[in-house]
Amino acid sequence: MSPTRSQQVVDELNELFGFHDGYRTVHAKGRFLTGEFIAAPAAARLTRAPHMQGGRIQVTARFSNGNGNPALPDFLPDVRGLAVSFHLPAGQRTDIVAATLPRFPVRTPAGVLALVRALRPRLTMPLRLTAFLLRHPEFLRSLPANLLALRRPPASYASARYYAIHAYRWMSPYGSERFVRYRWVPEQEKRLGWLRALLRGRDYLQHDLEARLRNGPVRMHLQVQVARPGDPVSDPSAAWPEDREIVTVGTLELRALDGEEEAYVFDPLRITDGIGPSDDPVLLFRTQAYTVSAERRGALHRPQHVKAA
Ligand code: HEM
Repeated sequence: MSPTRSQQVVDELNELFGFHDGYRTVHAKGRFLTGEFIAAPAAARLTRAPHMQGGRIQVTARFSNGNGNPALPDFLPDVRGLAVSFHLPAGQRTDIVAATLPRFPVRTPAGVLALVRALRPRLTMPLRLTAFLLRHPEFLRSLPANLLALRRPPASYASARYYAIHAYRWMSPYGSERFVRYRWVPEQEKRLGWLRALLRGRDYLQHDLEARLRNGPVRMHLQVQVARPGDPVSDPSAAWPEDREIVTVGTLELRALDGEEEAYVFDPLRITDGIGPSDDPVLLFRTQAYTVSAERRGALHRPQHVKAA
């Protein structure tokens, strides 16, 4: 049987970053935390989702570096990730899986495969990349204006912004619907110069979390950017106009590290009543790729235990 596209993408990522037994295909190095999410009053007007009604919702979160090699030091340039699972009544969960890039570089699963193939570390890479760029003009368009600044390592996982990129449909208690895009915003945004990051050591982001938690919770604010009719809701490479309304819908308070959750699998399509997916093909494809990766690292056969915050 020929491999599915999601298997092919995971194969290519394994080739790019190496296969590291037991680790995630990408975002291999990370730390789990537990804590709570408290929705702001504005959230309940936009969605009837249970974790957006106020009250304290337990969460499991994981900060990570995007590379698939878990041994790489924190000071190298990389995308960083923040995945959050909200624990709902009756043992249900809903997830937001976000990263520090504001837009995705391609629009379709075929584009994802073409990109990872173009990046194969061989002599012909420049030729392959050129051919890829000609066929995928959205790649250059998706690059943020502050790309160079974004490549500088963050002072802390808790001092970067994280974007969930895809649009989700929020259904209000009054029957109306709006498309939104999530972003986590830190209390203070800060990036380091290369030398300063290097001097902090290979695991400085991990140590920083430990130090911060000794002084109280790590806080991140959840904002949604609200689309207007006609905004591109199925294209993860396209920005929405700057003037779109941004609403702060809650605060994450992470209180403790938790080292025992490696079997955990986050899923950007694990949504709940009051929230719907957009028909963004990359969003729909991610779950398939995550399942292949989780299967290969043995996560699907171990219990996903959940600790109280
Ligand atoms: C089609 C595009 C994508 C593919 C093929 C892909 C692939 C993967 C895979 C295979 C994993 C490891 C899953 C596991 O073993 O549990 C992963 C994890 C992750 N991805 Fe993606 N990804 C895609 C798009 C994105 C986007 C758009 C974002 C950000 C919005 C993102 C953020 C993350 C994060 C933060 C993790 C780590 C989650 C954790 O801590 O467990 N990915 N991705």
